[in-house]
Amino acid sequence: MDLQLKNKNFIVTGGAKGIGAAIAFELAKEGALPIIIGRNQHDNENIQTAIHAAGGQCATFEAELNERTDYAALHQRITTQFKEIHGIVNNAGANDGVGLKNGNIDLFVKSIHKNVTHYFGTVQCFLNELIQTKGAIVNISSKVAETGQGGTSGYAAANGARNALTREWAVELIPYAIRVNAVVVAESFTPLYQEWIKTLPAPDETLKKIISSIPFENRMTKPEEIAHMVLFLLSKLSSHTTGQIIHVDGGYVHLDRAITHIK
Ligand SMILES: NC(=O)c1ccc[n+]([C@@H]2O[C@H](COP(=O)([O-])OP(=O)(O)OC[C@H]3O[C@@H](n4cnc5c(N)ncnc54)[C@H](O)[C@@H]3O)[C@@H](O)[C@H]2O)c1
Repeated sequence: MDLQLKNKNFIVTGGAKGIGAAIAFELAKEGALPIIIGRNQHDNENIQTAIHAAGGQCATFEAELNERTDYAALHQRITTQFKEIHGIVNNAGANDGVGLKNGNIDLFVKSIHKNVTHYFGTVQCFLNELIQTKGAIVNISSKVAETGQGGTSGYAAANGARNALTREWAVELIPYAIRVNAVVVAESFTPLYQEWIKTLPAPDETLKKIISSIPFENRMTKPEEIAHMVLFLLSKLSSHTTGQIIHVDGGYVHLDRAITHIK
């Protein structure tokens, strides 16, 4: 199956590590050019070097995506080098544990900015380019929007908004033939996940418990498995799929987790 992504340019926010890095790698393998926006220049350079070493192409731009992001400057920096943008993967974010008992309003608002305000900002910033190419948008989202997790109100609210904006933009952008979909992740072992699990009591035991409750094959979702769905949604092969919230989670959200005990 040829995804027809060759020589196309895709913005991937938070593409230097974890799920974003897997998306960038898989895009480069298909001959596309991932344009990574990431907060840490050292991490950006590492992923660029790794993609180049594997024979792919990649560009990186350093930016912290939050309420202070200067989108006009970001637009200028990127479009000076790349006139055409064929898609955006909104992915940057972190489960930052701002809850009712351990948070406050300022931290809650900050969490929203770090996790969803820039989804809006990035799409609005490159909307004209997307209109020209009839590009596609994929929003990475979390199961927390649907299942809750406890102690993470900001992240939960931001992920609810990621899903809502997927539907909202799918409708608003129909006149431009721009498709908008979300890929929901449940449990994927990334640098962020590794840090998060360490904050829990008895992290090794807890990790074992989580893994055993993932219905399909009792294992975590590999970042590449998420990336493959994202690439399909970016490609013209999914040309009549829009406004969909797709779970790449081994059945974690929708299947009866008691089935994991049936052998
Ligand atoms: N790992 C999981 O199990 C899981 C589960 C559900 C949802 N997600 C979602 O997937 C996305 C990626 O998560 P991951 O686990 O790959 O994280 P990660 O921390 O391993 O990688 C994310 C990358 O994005 C960068 N980044 C994060 N916020 C940024 C910001 N505001 N501005 C600029 N750069 C920023 C980080 O520095 C890092 O390089 C997040 O939006 C997260 O909500 C992950």
